[in-house]
Amino acid sequence: MKNKKALCYVALLALMVWCIKGFWSNNTVKVKPLELDQSQQEFQQQVNRDDLLRKEHEISTLKVEMARLKMESSKCGLESKFSPEIPKIYAITPTHYRAVQKAELTRLSHTLMLVPNLHWVVVEDAESKTDLVTKLLAKTGMSYSHLNAATPKSWKPKAKEPRWVKPRGVLQRNTALQWLRDNVSPNEDGVIYFVDDDNSYSLEVFEEMRYLKGVGVWPVGLVGGLMVERPKINAEGKVTGWLTVWSPNRPFAIDMAGFAINLKLFHSKPNGKFSFESEKGYQESELLKHFVGSLNELEVKADNCTKVFVWHTRTEQANLAQEIKLRKENKPRSDIGIEV
Ligand SMILES: *[C@@H]1O[C@H](CO)[C@@H](O)[C@H](O)[C@H]1NC(C)=O
Ligand SMILES: *[C@@H]1O[C@H](CO)[C@@H](O)[C@H](O)[C@H]1NC(C)=O
Repeated sequence: MKNKKALCYVALLALMVWCIKGFWSNNTVKVKPLELDQSQQEFQQQVNRDDLLRKEHEISTLKVEMARLKMESSKCGLESKFSPEIPKIYAITPTHYRAVQKAELTRLSHTLMLVPNLHWVVVEDAESKTDLVTKLLAKTGMSYSHLNAATPKSWKPKAKEPRWVKPRGVLQRNTALQWLRDNVSPNEDGVIYFVDDDNSYSLEVFEEMRYLKGVGVWPVGLVGGLMVERPKINAEGKVTGWLTVWSPNRPFAIDMAGFAINLKLFHSKPNGKFSFESEKGYQESELLKHFVGSLNELEVKADNCTKVFVWHTRTEQANLAQEIKLRKENKPRSDIGIEV
């Protein structure tokens, strides 16, 4: 009886040992592939992590490159061409037909195309818009308005008169100003700048004027018979007069290329425009008197007027002696079927 009980215990113990062993081995067997799975997963996770790190590295490299390019481009004022948050520049250009017109407008357009948020208002001195200017503007892909206003024949100089009876460009510039009053909202942020097709412009001049609150001024190179004409600036950084030789006592002895006007200020003075009656050299004064009460209201730009960002370069007239000869001799002209 005792033996039977002991045998029972032994058997029970054996069964327990067997069970535990089985359970253990079952677990081990089960655990083994699990461990394998885990290490595979860990391996996969490591691969994913490496991949992620590499991509993050690539992204940060690209971010650095982007920042570098942004910096480079901002040096030349080449930000995104369309940034709704920055004020728009309305560049007004009167133009008339002459042999070099297409060359001049091409050169100027290739500067203006680089200026962000610029709207080009081109006014032809012509009875109707010409094909040459129409095609040229369309090709730029710029934001522009193409207008025309023909200077009446009676205003042009007679045979022996050396100067124009009425100042050139006045009608065209006033046409552009009227267009602005009729088509641009008085609430829009922007500036107005007169851009002649024979001047040379640095991209910097456009960024100097973009945030003007009123009227801003800066030097103009190669004008008035001088290397540079510029406002006289005092120790407080205000305009006190003009460093010019010709007629320095004009109220605003400044070239058309040397100032820009805030658009809201322009809208607030409905009479502000050029006059056909002003003497030569007084057009700028005629216009600015509407917008500026006294010289110290002027906003001094281009590092206190110590930098030149625009030049009154004028192209030499094209030498067309042979062309004129051809026409006199009733021979075919050189530009038949080709736009120059
Ligand atoms: C061993 O595993 C199998 C399948 O998972 C299970 O059916 C069996 O009961 C296990 N054996 C033990 C001793 O736990
Ligand atoms: C312009 O001049 C004023 C007065 O001398 C000075 O305070 C200011 O820092 C100058 N600004 C620049 C951009 O040089």
